[in-house]
Amino acid sequence: MATLTAARSGTFRIGGELEVHRLGYGAMRITGEGIWGPPADKAESLRVLKRLPELGVNFIDTADSYGPDVSEQLLREALHPYKGLLVATKGGLTRPGPDQWVPNGRPEYLIKQAHGSLKKLGVDRIDLWQLHRIDPNVPREEQFGAVKQLLDEGVIRFAGLSEVTVEEIKAASKVFPVATVQNMYNLANRGAESVLDYCEQQGIGFIPWYPLAAGELARSGSVLDKIAKEHRVGPSQIALAWILKRSPVMLPIPGTSKVKHLEENVAAVEIQLSDAEFASLNKLRA
Ligand SMILES: NC(=O)c1ccc[n+]([C@@H]2O[C@H](COP(=O)([O-])OP(=O)(O)OC[C@H]3O[C@@H](n4cnc5c(N)ncnc54)[C@H](OP(=O)(O)O)[C@@H]3O)[C@@H](O)[C@H]2O)c1
Repeated sequence: MATLTAARSGTFRIGGELEVHRLGYGAMRITGEGIWGPPADKAESLRVLKRLPELGVNFIDTADSYGPDVSEQLLREALHPYKGLLVATKGGLTRPGPDQWVPNGRPEYLIKQAHGSLKKLGVDRIDLWQLHRIDPNVPREEQFGAVKQLLDEGVIRFAGLSEVTVEEIKAASKVFPVATVQNMYNLANRGAESVLDYCEQQGIGFIPWYPLAAGELARSGSVLDKIAKEHRVGPSQIALAWILKRSPVMLPIPGTSKVKHLEENVAAVEIQLSDAEFASLNKLRA
């Protein structure tokens, strides 16, 4: 069998410059329950991270708020100095406790957090830093201004947004070049379709989070179930193959705390969906 490699998912240039393999990895799941504290099995989490470069996964997504701090610290422990890897992080969400996420978009907070990520990751500059949420309680121009300041000062190389509308991308683009957008998107949750289309037109990388969810669509006897059986793979692998085929700007970041699952997710790059299969999956909605 050919070597298992995410390189087979194709490439995308973030900000038109930094080339990554399109199938990436989300490092939110290497923390404790409620995305809080250390992972239940730290040794396995470190094995997952060390396996990434071996599998050709060179685009990794994290955030200061995962743990908080735990995900960035584990990435450093396992992968520093990140040779050949692009580690993207985010700021703008605070963590009062497990499963609690509260935006803070005050410019001084965003700037402090980006500097904190720089230190935790142990890098001179963050390749891609994303505003985790636009805080509804702070004028958005002030938040975008903080991102521009981070870019101008060289703290970050490229900047992205998360959970935004097309109108918000356009407003942010007046202040700084938007390199990526990270919204929830999967076969069963297609609310971000218009945002994805806009990103494709503009050459903005679209990072679908929660990419593996197939939910009800994967029930026994469904079209998804049938296609998965024909390919002798699991429904979540078909969900990933579909997402990769959906757009050339698509950069999925499936998250896992287990090497076995990581390998299964990377193996999805080998699934060749026919145009007819793609069309019938496209018609599915939860
Ligand atoms: N921007 C945002 O607001 C936002 C929000 C949420 C997430 N994210 C980012 O998006 C990434 C992905 O999102 P996500 O982790 O919520 O969703 P996901 O990647 O679709 O699913 C992750 C879940 O699926 C399980 N899983 C993964 N591979 C599997 C496999 N092959 N077989 C069976 N189960 C499998 C994982 O459990 P195991 O650990 O047991 O494998 C985990 O519970 C995150 O890691 C994070 O970087 C961003």
